[in-house]
Amino acid sequence: MSNPAKKPNAIIFGGLNTCSRALAALLVPLDGERLVSVLAKPKVEYKQVNLTVAAAVASSFDPPEGHDTYDYVFDFTGEIRHDRTEMIQINTTFNVARLIGLEAAKRKIKSYVRVQQPFYDTSNASKATHTEKEDVKPMDTLGIWWHETLRMLAAIEDLNLVILRIGFAYGPYTNHGIVASGITVASVYGYLKKPMKSVWSPGKNANNTVHIDDVAGASLACAEWIASYGRAAANSVAGEEIIFHNDKKKVKEVKGMPAHDQKLVAPLFNLLMDDNVEDINEHHVGGWTEMILASKPPIPNTPLSAYMDKFALSKHVVAFNNAKVKEVVGYKLKHPEFNHETIKEVVDKWKEEGTWPILD
Ligand SMILES: *[C@@H]1O[C@H](CO)[C@@H](O)[C@H](O)[C@H]1NC(C)=O
Ligand SMILES: *[C@@H]1O[C@H](CO)[C@@H](O)[C@H](O)[C@H]1NC(C)=O
Repeated sequence: MSNPAKKPNAIIFGGLNTCSRALAALLVPLDGERLVSVLAKPKVEYKQVNLTVAAAVASSFDPPEGHDTYDYVFDFTGEIRHDRTEMIQINTTFNVARLIGLEAAKRKIKSYVRVQQPFYDTSNASKATHTEKEDVKPMDTLGIWWHETLRMLAAIEDLNLVILRIGFAYGPYTNHGIVASGITVASVYGYLKKPMKSVWSPGKNANNTVHIDDVAGASLACAEWIASYGRAAANSVAGEEIIFHNDKKKVKEVKGMPAHDQKLVAPLFNLLMDDNVEDINEHHVGGWTEMILASKPPIPNTPLSAYMDKFALSKHVVAFNNAKVKEVVGYKLKHPEFNHETIKEVVDKWKEEGTWPILD
């Protein structure tokens, strides 16, 4: 940012239950100096478009009249449900990112930050944590297509791509994912005054987590970082090979999928908490136990569910090392620990929006 008066404009792709809300709040804080100049009126434009349609993606990049073109693109898209067919996974994860990535490259966007969910299994390796250099295996069909999406984006040469590979995200308004179910289920055990039982138990296996404020903060730090380098220089400083983990037959079937033997490199950073996850257990939720008993007002509808699907019930080991993002990008975690206080913040926001039982 050579001209300090000119602040970058940004587009965030991804629903409100992703990290988009936290990033928007960071870019356009309610008070204090704005990090990114936004539309004067309204400051933030919210749009719903069908991102599987190329023309809709292209028009999202058109700035409102009288405003400069966008500088940064944050891609938080992708299907997160494991029960979707492979066809849907391809359409809503791979194809959506492909359309956004191609358009961003065409418009010479300065930064394209792709958030990669932790759909990997690191349990078969002997090491405790895994750096960006190590080959880790994507988990399930969902993980395979999220990973393939990285190869496809890496193959777009002119794309100023940075990949941020995160731990299990949690935070205010994040009502999905295994951390949210973990907190909810744990509270039920707490209410029943029984020790938490589960096929897998957080804390026993390494399960990296990350607060959504840190996903937002690191996304912005990475955007600024690559904007100053450009892709080629960023590749030479922080490029990692994205190794093929798909079925070779798919290359012919799926439009835009790079050949299996194409060597693809992109800047990649792990992002997760410094500490291993503490147990999500009755100790943390003890204080909330009573709330479930007699909520006032009652909670007829809540997106929070104590139901754990097959994915949530299966054992996960996700253990990455986060030294690189600290060293190369200089990012410092705002919430380095997953503890009582951070869980309380999440639950307090759920209470505010009326999705969590409240006691007097
Ligand atoms: C989005 O567009 C695709 C392709 O045209 C279509 O199949 C799908 O139904 C649309 N989705 C929504 C939610 O409108
Ligand atoms: C996926 O996309 C293809 C090609 O655009 C389309 O023919 C197909 O109906 C889509 N399938 C689903 C399940 O969305």
